[in-house]
Amino acid sequence: MYSIKVKIIIILVFLNIKYSSQKLVEISGPGLDPELIVMPARYFYVNFTFVDDKSYTPDLASKFAVEISGKTRKGNHCRIWVNKLDRKDGSFIVRYKIYETCYDFSINLYYNSKPIKGSPFIYKGPIQADQCNCPHEDFESWLKEYNCVKSYEQIDNDLKYFKEIDMKKKLQRIVEKFNRPESTSYCHYVIKDNKIYRTCYGKHVGFNMFADNILLSLTRKAMFPDVELVINLGDWPLVSKGSELLPVFSWCGSHDTMDIVMPTYDITESTLENMGRVTLDILSVQGGVELPWWQREEKAIWRGRDSRSERLKLVDIARDHPDLFNVSLTNFFFFREKENEYGPKQPHISFFKFFDYKYQVNIDGTVAAYRFPYLLAGGGLVLKQDSPYYEHFYSQLHDWEHFVPVKRDLSDLVDRLQWARSHDKDAYQIANNAKKFATENLSPQHIFCYHALLFWEWSKRIKSEVTIEENMTHVPQPTFDCDCKNIRFKEEL
Ligand SMILES: *[C@@H]1O[C@H](CO)[C@@H](O)[C@H](O)[C@H]1NC(C)=O
Ligand SMILES: *[C@@H]1O[C@H](CO)[C@@H](O)[C@H](O)[C@H]1NC(C)=O
Ligand SMILES: *[C@@H]1O[C@H](CO)[C@@H](O)[C@H](O)[C@H]1NC(C)=O
Repeated sequence: MYSIKVKIIIILVFLNIKYSSQKLVEISGPGLDPELIVMPARYFYVNFTFVDDKSYTPDLASKFAVEISGKTRKGNHCRIWVNKLDRKDGSFIVRYKIYETCYDFSINLYYNSKPIKGSPFIYKGPIQADQCNCPHEDFESWLKEYNCVKSYEQIDNDLKYFKEIDMKKKLQRIVEKFNRPESTSYCHYVIKDNKIYRTCYGKHVGFNMFADNILLSLTRKAMFPDVELVINLGDWPLVSKGSELLPVFSWCGSHDTMDIVMPTYDITESTLENMGRVTLDILSVQGGVELPWWQREEKAIWRGRDSRSERLKLVDIARDHPDLFNVSLTNFFFFREKENEYGPKQPHISFFKFFDYKYQVNIDGTVAAYRFPYLLAGGGLVLKQDSPYYEHFYSQLHDWEHFVPVKRDLSDLVDRLQWARSHDKDAYQIANNAKKFATENLSPQHIFCYHALLFWEWSKRIKSEVTIEENMTHVPQPTFDCDCKNIRFKEEL
């Protein structure tokens, strides 16, 4: 039986290769593997290859239909919410959220009311909701099943000086050194037997919710190795280069510090709350964009608050070049005394409106601007201010390939913008590279993988015994009723 199945698959693969030039619809993505890849919102891509962003018309969305259904163990309909995002280039993102354990699950795709080749995709189940606490017993095989890459250069670099770590000693030194409760807050986390415990230090520890949530979500998916770590809850990295080597995990890195970088709380939360509380995420921004490149206005847009002097300078530059820029400050806090000069402040506009324009400016806030991932995903050309700050993925990016670099003092911004206007084909190519990069590296699956790999690599470096101190608080999993049967079976079609 098994070998027949294998043969059929081989023939199908062969046919696929032979006729790939005629393949009209390409379907791919982690949401097509719902038994193995559990996410708050699962997603996959459907690409109608006979349409591109020049020939795109909105009626494609009305011809393309999706139906996703399943049964509960008792045989009722599963509660599933489906969301179709039109990327306006001939492709769609289909995402769906399931609210309970489902069986006999099917994904049906139609074009002009006819099933698209390959559809329906059928799964016996169980398909788990993200809240299900059904961890895979082997972490390493889970990483493979989840389709994570094997390594990240940024992780290797961040961890390269850490070997045989005695976390008890390191923690003591961190507590002594960063004893500035007014300005510095962080939490010591322990994962032991796949349960999470923490003690927090400092006056402003509300952001521990973000760290809690990603650790809870990951430990529901796989049995974590025992590990302990310190997570910085502030934006600024803490451990200066040249000072004592202390392991602190931070959301933002800089050239002057050696903190271990994690995906920001912003992109992490948008991953965990995809199709939930958060409306701006890497997927929604691709569907929220209204216009293809060639219909967008040839100006650079920027909105934001006054968190850095170059943001005021940008207003000056824009006033000198109203034909090139649409720029406004939305809030005054850091430079209140300059509100008369640089105001009046303008109301916020929807982030999706940024992509009515071909060019977006990215300027640091207090640290790196955490909107950068969403700008990359929106299919515009990002003019990025040079910066000592970085997020977990910046080292994978190249200037002139994924964005146009701008000097820190913005002195070449107008030149760069004029270059983009006179090299539209190149600008369009860079914009497309950025979107592709975001799709392939910053989507929810990748944010889970980065955290998982990072904490796993870290756990290997700890030589002290991982223990729970008396003063630690247990962070419990939400109660959620699920069938955690460990049947992994998928019908091949
Ligand atoms: C859709 O498929 C075509 C042909 O393979 C490809 O050129 C194009 O980049 C794809 N579009 C997207 C958004 O992936
Ligand atoms: C700037 O952009 C906003 C939002 O798209 C728009 O409402 C406004 O009219 C623009 N201003 C100018 C001067 O083009
Ligand atoms: C928690 O206990 C550990 C070990 O006894 C100690 O080093 C640390 O200072 C305590 N932390 C707090 C916040 O009380």
